[in-house]
Amino acid sequence: MAVESEDLARTAEDGTDAAARTPSRRALIGWGGAGLALGAVAAGGTAAALTAGDDPAPAADSGGAVPFHGAHQAGIATAVQDRLHFAAFDVTTDDREALIDLLKEWTAAAARMTAGRPVGEGAVGGLAEAPPDDTGEALDLKPSRLTLTFGIGPTLFEKKGEDRFGIKDRRPEALIDLPKFPGDNLEAARSGGDLCVQACADDPQVAVHAIRNLARIGFGKVAVRWSQLGFGKTSSTTPDAHTPRNMFGFKDGTRNIAGSDGAALDKHVWVGEQDEKGAGGWMAGGSYLVARRIRMHIETWDRTSLKEQEDVFGRSKGEGAAVGRQKEFDAPHLKSMLPTAHVRLAHPDSNSGIRILRRGYSFTDGTDGLGRLDAGLFFLAYQRDVRDGFVPLQKNLARHDALNEYIQHVGSAVFAVPPGVRGKDDWWGRALFA
Ligand code: HEM
Repeated sequence: MAVESEDLARTAEDGTDAAARTPSRRALIGWGGAGLALGAVAAGGTAAALTAGDDPAPAADSGGAVPFHGAHQAGIATAVQDRLHFAAFDVTTDDREALIDLLKEWTAAAARMTAGRPVGEGAVGGLAEAPPDDTGEALDLKPSRLTLTFGIGPTLFEKKGEDRFGIKDRRPEALIDLPKFPGDNLEAARSGGDLCVQACADDPQVAVHAIRNLARIGFGKVAVRWSQLGFGKTSSTTPDAHTPRNMFGFKDGTRNIAGSDGAALDKHVWVGEQDEKGAGGWMAGGSYLVARRIRMHIETWDRTSLKEQEDVFGRSKGEGAAVGRQKEFDAPHLKSMLPTAHVRLAHPDSNSGIRILRRGYSFTDGTDGLGRLDAGLFFLAYQRDVRDGFVPLQKNLARHDALNEYIQHVGSAVFAVPPGVRGKDDWWGRALFA
């Protein structure tokens, strides 16, 4: 039976909160989750319910739970949620077993939190003399379609020539150190990381709670290296939904890989069974993530004419139609655009057919001390191989894109995102450490 209905029993059993009496977060999960699970069972039996992580369809409502288990990690093909908290971690222990224990603990906590349940014994259920297992700020909130997507950076495999955890020979060739691109102005403090967790949810507090609790569980073994909050998703994986706008006011995500496009996902996003055999094949079903903190020079942009703004992208600001076209989803005619137009340069026809799945968020982190907003796009892109994805695309954009006058890349990281967690005995990174 699916975990959600087990939890109903557990809630009543341990009595750690008022779930039985009031419609608290746990109770809502119980009922909402049980409803979802029963629906899934009715549709296709228990197996369908347990492997629902493969199903990119959005949850019934924005408060629902996205299944944690499946062939692929949730948070990639999943319909993009409204909010993001992304964290990169440095591993501070050099003990392989301690790291493995942490990954197991993280996985268990992630499974609970994505189902809308508190970590461990909860915020109020444990010993009065000890700090609670859960920090508590999500107790009365719905699951909010929380997804937690885990990744592994190049430095976990090797740092300063050292094979830290005996996994150096398992580093996939596709997990390259990104080259320096023209115009990069990267801050070390906002770049890299041994591990990452991307938390996406429709409620920012749910996303922040998840990262906070994972960081707390990891105390003494990992430390947050940098983190980024995001709002206003800048890409959609659901083409039939309203396309969101970025901080420059343009629709963003019009031509993205849809979460329902299985063929495109298999071709461009998921690592295949035959890929990376040299590294042991542990990445099959996974993906590679590139994260870039891209500062957008809002004040300069806001003094730029509408014509120039539209020329920069090669699309109209209102409708989002490509130059010479009427509607947002009309196929672009690239030659009608300026050779420096972002869409022309980023289009697959200008890049030997390359496609990536974009899943970025806007950010505004106060001001920079010079009266300018520290705002931009936290660019997140998933692909089957960065060498045939972000790298050639960004080489092209960094050299020629008219947008470069208005943006600057200030943070960068790349991660191998392993396949999904298959069930209760599986954990993040198990195949890597096997
Ligand atoms: C702040 C930086 C950026 C902004 C504001 C931006 C904005 C946009 C906008 C408005 C579109 C048109 C709508 C759409 O199809 O989604 C677009 C398309 C696209 N962008 Fe960006 N973008 C940025 C950075 C990047 C980067 C770094 C890459 C990859 C290296 C990239 C790759 C793409 C791709 C692949 C498309 C779709 C092209 C097509 O198939 O027509 N963008 N972007």
